[in-house]
Amino acid sequence: MTLITFTPVAHVDDVPPGTSKVVDLDGQSVLICHSNGRLFAIANRCSHADEPLACGRIRAGWIACPVHGARFDLETGRAMNPPAKAPIRVYEVRIIGEQIEVAR
Ligand code: FES
Repeated sequence: MTLITFTPVAHVDDVPPGTSKVVDLDGQSVLICHSNGRLFAIANRCSHADEPLACGRIRAGWIACPVHGARFDLETGRAMNPPAKAPIRVYEVRIIGEQIEVAR
C-alpha cells in the first residue's frame, strides 16, 4: 500500500475563482488553479517548450499556456490542442480547514 502525503501549500483565500497561484512543493513549481468551483494542482511547466504556465488564461476547467496557446485539462493534464501533445502532471488536492494541501 502506498501512503499519500499531503503538504499544505496555500490558504484558500490565496486562490480566488478564476485565478492561480504558484507554490513550491519540495522544490517543484506547482500551479494551484481555481476553476469550475474547484481547486486543481498542476505542474507549472508546459509540455511543449518547458515554459511556465503561470499567468495562463483559466476558463472552464482548462488553462492556456501563455507562450503558444496550448490548452490543458486541469483535471487530467491532457493537452487539448497543439502545439502541445504530451500531458502535464497533475496533483491530488484537498482542503483541510482553510488550507489547500497537495499530494506529493
Ligand atoms: S510553451 Fe506552452 S504551448 Fe509552447
